[in-house]
Amino acid sequence: MAVPFLRLGVNIDHVATIRNARGGDAPSPVRAAQMAEKAGADGITAHLREDRRHIRDEDIAALMANISVPLNFEMAATEEMQAIALRHKPHAVCIVPERREERTTEGGLGVHQDQDRLSAFVAPLRDAGCRVSMFIEADPAQIEASAKIGAAVVELHTGALCEAHLEGDFATRDAHLERITSAAKLAHDMGLEVHAGHGLDFDTAPMAAAIPEVVELNIGHFLIGEAIFTGLPNAITQMRSVMDAARPPAGS
Ligand code: PXP
Repeated sequence: MAVPFLRLGVNIDHVATIRNARGGDAPSPVRAAQMAEKAGADGITAHLREDRRHIRDEDIAALMANISVPLNFEMAATEEMQAIALRHKPHAVCIVPERREERTTEGGLGVHQDQDRLSAFVAPLRDAGCRVSMFIEADPAQIEASAKIGAAVVELHTGALCEAHLEGDFATRDAHLERITSAAKLAHDMGLEVHAGHGLDFDTAPMAAAIPEVVELNIGHFLIGEAIFTGLPNAITQMRSVMDAARPPAGS
């Protein structure tokens, strides 16, 4: 296949986490998004969690009004979130599982187990023109279910791969990478657009970038953390360059 361009989506949730620690307006997630855009981000991702622990409702409106790149709105499959998405009509809606007690999105969505409900849930979002993405584990049953319910995109969860890498368990990491690589191929063959994300850093983003069917990486926590030391534009520029270096040549 001709290898497509790999987009970098920057998740700015944790700028809001820092803001909320003091309860004021700074640092501004919109300012971070604009800076990310200027530094080469191809999209901005924001997750409005049910408990509003980082991004708030007004951030979504402000992001929609003040950025030029596409907004990827992450949300749980609840009626409240569906209504918010339908009000703003972002470029993309990524449906994620959400549990209040978790620190971050710990696993993929059970699309296969909840097909009828999710099929009805995503239909109005699709009708409103949003690209609907399902955040799933690299599991053929979840990919097939995502295609069946009419999603346009699947985002493959890279959390376990990244964790194994950090722990130095390279056999487990490579097994995850193999699963993600074949899942990406299966999803692409089924007509789905393939994204990947969660836990990616300068070491692990290249592994995902090397998979030709993956066309977008969504990266947040690492980039915002790295920005403390080198600045957000530098962190993004460096991420862009490690992604590009790992990408198979366009004609291959
Ligand atoms: N993609 C999805 C669907 C996510 O839920 C998250 C975390 O909010 C990310 C990507 C980014 O993960 P991280 O912040 O670990 O880079």
